[in-house]
Amino acid sequence: MRIAILTSGGDAPGMNACIRSAVRVAKSLNWTVFGIKRGYRGLIYGELEEMGSRSVSNIIQRGGTILRASRCKEFETDEGLQQAKRTLEAFGIQALIVIGGDGSFHGAVALAKIWDGQIIGIPGTIDNDLVGTDITIGYDTAVNTAVWAIDKIRDTAEAQERYFLVEVMGREAGFIALDAGLSGGAEEVLVPEIHTDLGEIHKRLMQGKQRGKTSSIVIVAEGNHEGSAFEIASKLKKLCGSEYRVVVLGHIQRGGSPTARDRILATKLGAFAIDVLAEGKTGVMVGEVRGDLVTTPLEDTWKTKKPLDPYLLRLNTILET
Ligand code: F6P
Repeated sequence: MRIAILTSGGDAPGMNACIRSAVRVAKSLNWTVFGIKRGYRGLIYGELEEMGSRSVSNIIQRGGTILRASRCKEFETDEGLQQAKRTLEAFGIQALIVIGGDGSFHGAVALAKIWDGQIIGIPGTIDNDLVGTDITIGYDTAVNTAVWAIDKIRDTAEAQERYFLVEVMGREAGFIALDAGLSGGAEEVLVPEIHTDLGEIHKRLMQGKQRGKTSSIVIVAEGNHEGSAFEIASKLKKLCGSEYRVVVLGHIQRGGSPTARDRILATKLGAFAIDVLAEGKTGVMVGEVRGDLVTTPLEDTWKTKKPLDPYLLRLNTILET
């Protein structure tokens, strides 16, 4: 069996642990493994290198991805897809493993329409916005990084008796915001899944002040319909005259050494992807749901929106008082 692995889209901590696991399990079956550099771009331009157990030494603890990743517009064109197919044929690849998020899986589905090989997706994104797995590789590390930052902001907010808006990543999903907000004891969490009423938010923060709160932290998930944290700060200033300091955590959430939870998830899913290939499956994402390793058709991972945990949302509104 000749397989190739790529990491695509936004990198996520734990991708390296996943590559390591998939490569070593595949090698234990005497398969030939190629690593594709820079995601679909490398597939188009034939940037493949054979990998062995030693090429994945000393990477389980490293953030980023040794294979590099990219967002590749060319792969969305017919010519790009055809060129990718030619590369796979030239290297005699029978199966492709794509570690990435929904954009990467859209690409995988498009490729499956013109290429006969097997394709397996592994959920690697900090956003956690894929159906078919309880959490995605990188999510736990990103949440922990956000909480680490929120704890520090809390110290200065409290010392200066200030209000902060902290913007976290997640594109159009509020998973990082909700978990980081809950873990960091935020006063408010604004997620894209729920309509934000800025007047109401300000009112609740002022009620908190009357109850003796001297500082507050509001977590803003990217993709809020009111705009970025900076835009929300200026709207709040116009609306109520209050000053909100803004911190955008940004790409810091994508980096760093993966947590043990991410390393374990990545290791399990990397190995399971090989098992699933050996069974002859294709067009599915591997995931972990309530402790079980499962597969989900790639299209189903993005067709319906993964819901935020309603219990956590309810709890959050009680605890933030
Ligand atoms: O999908 C992962 C993610 O980090 C999102 O949370 C964020 O919106 C996006 O990627 C940022 O992408 P880029 O690094 O290409 O700007």
